[in-house]
Amino acid sequence: MSDTKIFLTGIKPTGTVHLGNYIGALRQIRDISAVHKTIVFVADLHALNIMHDANAVREHTYEIAAIIMSIGVNMDNVLLFRQSDVPAVCELSTILTNVTPKGLMDRAHSYKAAVDRNTAAGADADMGVNMGLYTYPILMAADILLYGADVVPVGADQKQHVEFARDIAGHFNTIYGNVLKLPDAQIAPDAGIIPGLDGRKMSKSYDNVIPLMANSGELKKKIMRIITDSKTPEESKDPEISTIFQLYKHFADAAEIEKFAEMFRAGGMGYGTAKTILYEKMDSVLAPMRERYEYLMNHRDELDSALAGGAEIARKIADKTLSRVRRVTLGKK
Ligand code: ADP
Ligand code: TRP
Repeated sequence: MSDTKIFLTGIKPTGTVHLGNYIGALRQIRDISAVHKTIVFVADLHALNIMHDANAVREHTYEIAAIIMSIGVNMDNVLLFRQSDVPAVCELSTILTNVTPKGLMDRAHSYKAAVDRNTAAGADADMGVNMGLYTYPILMAADILLYGADVVPVGADQKQHVEFARDIAGHFNTIYGNVLKLPDAQIAPDAGIIPGLDGRKMSKSYDNVIPLMANSGELKKKIMRIITDSKTPEESKDPEISTIFQLYKHFADAAEIEKFAEMFRAGGMGYGTAKTILYEKMDSVLAPMRERYEYLMNHRDELDSALAGGAEIARKIADKTLSRVRRVTLGKK
């Protein structure tokens, strides 16, 4: 049964994709695509509430498309396209606005966080909040409902948005009949928080990331910059609190992980050696992906045609939903 379900997720092109994104989110898309029909789009319209540089939006969009096509995703099961290439999503979003209670938007975590920050700083509650941020959940609901998604795999931070999509679809269906499919969120199996170079959560906002597609030299340089404590090589070390080990865990098999942990505990291994072992392991896993990624980034025509082909199919699916929605809301044939 589950094989016939449609999985859908969007990725915002707001910055360089890093190992936290890969381990916490992208790998799940790869695994789902092995079994399920999966719709994956680059959510470029969603990036606009924070990004006002068109070149950057375009470049990050290409990067994400190339990454999806390089990390072992089963492209036979995947429909990949750019959100803005399917304008129907904007029309559906506008229509959904009219059945969405304002209170729902007021309760959205990201909007509330902005208000809390402003209030704490003694500023006007809505300072710096644009309507793109405020209505973000409606556009996201349109993304999900337009393609009739059954399951939306997302990180825990996006769970509320999927619940909103379900609520909005419910409000719509109560008024207009059973037109929109109610989606379920699927929260990524907890990969834990991937630490960055400084030991805090790897995040572009902390400037502590290792880019997923860093070249070999850059990867090595970043790994050598991981902050450690000042234990001497001889001393025994706790792998569980080491960023080096925490990253290694996601690239090695069980036997290798156990062996590396033992080397930490036994003492006799300095952090320089541990970093070299981490680098060699990571590079061996990432090199083939990087090769394909670099090829695609140097052959934009191939990316363009993959995205255009995806968008053509996506528009057909979208138009079917939108026709039904127009019929029941506007009385159009
Ligand atoms: P950033 O914090 O760099 O802005 P995003 O919020 O854009 O990253 O992350 C997109 C997704 O990548 C998140 O929903 C989450 O699932 C995953 N992710 C990002 N950083 C990490 C991390 N350090 N550890 C685990 N998962 C992460
Ligand atoms: N809001 C999601 C994020 O920040 C990206 C996104 C946009 C999305 N539209 C979506 C995710 C639809 C799932 C389904 O990561």
